[in-house]
Order: sequence, then structure tokens, then C-alpha cells
Amino acid sequence: MMDYQGHFPYGFIERVIIPKADIKDRVKELGETITRDYQNSEKILLLGLLRGSVVFLTDLMREIHRPITMDFMLISSYSKSESSGFVRIDSDHKTNIRGWDVILIDDIVDSGYTIRTVRKLLLDREPNSLKVCALLDKPERHKVDVQIDYLGFSIPDYFVVGYGLDYDEKGRNLPYIASIDLSKAGG
Ligand code: IMP
Ligand code: MG
Repeated sequence: MMDYQGHFPYGFIERVIIPKADIKDRVKELGETITRDYQNSEKILLLGLLRGSVVFLTDLMREIHRPITMDFMLISSYSKSESSGFVRIDSDHKTNIRGWDVILIDDIVDSGYTIRTVRKLLLDREPNSLKVCALLDKPERHKVDVQIDYLGFSIPDYFVVGYGLDYDEKGRNLPYIASIDLSKAGG
């Protein structure tokens, strides 16, 4: 199955670990589960962490057959490929989330610091409920306990790009998830 026309647009790509079709199927399943779980809610807010979750969030929302609102926070937690454990909010969400059923959306859980920090902060703002949804998880890398309520795929400890995820802002446009060769990434 070649969903990349035989060559990769970035020299640092090693191999495809999750093809486009598998992502599509999984996103549809997640949408079905969320639709069912939120059958009685009229105030569902998908709150995405920019920029990595954008591709996932915009596909996922079209698989949720309920009224949906979306908002975003811009978070810096990372420099290139190394987790710092330090999470900074560069831009906050606009919605007053009090009383909303918030689903926090991120691209990937690595150390777990980002989700843990943002989750705590959002709980102080008194949403009606708060769940976490991530496309990917690297359980081997967790440094803190995190609960992921809706997960796309669990992956080994690779650095990956594509479907919104980047290496140094590159690779977000790839329609699949690929591992990269850090020695060829020039960083
Ligand atoms: P955490 O705070 O260590 O869990 O880091 C989560 C953030 O790190 C994610 O939102 C991503 O932006 C980034 N990240 C972690 N692993 C990867 C990866 O393999 N590829 C791209 N970004 C990653
Ligand atoms: Mg991120």
C-alpha cells in the first residue's frame, strides 16, 4: 500500500508506521464512541492544543454526530524532539468553559507533562466534564501518570511526524504517521 507515491517529501523520513487508511478508520471509530458517550450533551467543546492537534481535530469533529464547538490553546512544551517538562501557554482559549463538556485534544502524549498541566488548569475553570483525547501515545515515555480517555494508537518510542505532528515545524502535511531518522533531520 503506497499512499506516498513512492517517495517521501522529506529526507529524514524512515518509514510509514500508520498508513492514511488506518488513521481514517480509527478516527471514525473514535467519533462513533464520542457520539455515543455524549448523546445527552448539547454543550460539547473540542479544545485542541495548537498546532499539532489541528489535523486530527478537524477530521474527528466530522465523525461526531452531535452539536460541536471548537476552540484552541497554543502551548509550547517542546524544543525540536526533546521534552522539557516545562509547559507554557502562549495563547489561551476564548470560550468560557464553565458548564461545558470539554474534550481536550492533543496529537501525542509523550512525557505526559502537557496533558497533566493543561488538565489541571482547565479543571480550575469548572467545566461540566473534562476528558482527554489523543491521536497517539508513547507509554514507554511517560514521566507522570496521565489518563487518556480516547486514544487513537499506542506506539513504541519513535519520534514521529505527519497528520499534524512535526519535527521542527516540518512534516505536518503528511497524510500518514511516519518515524524519522534523527541523524538525517539536521537538528
Ligand atoms: P509531553 O508534554 O512530553 O507529553 O509532550 C507532548 C507534546 O510533545 C506533543 O503535543 C507534541 O507536540 C510533542 N511530541 C512528543 N512526541 C512527539 C513526536 O514523536 N513527534 C512530534 N511531536 C511530539
Ligand atoms: Mg504539541
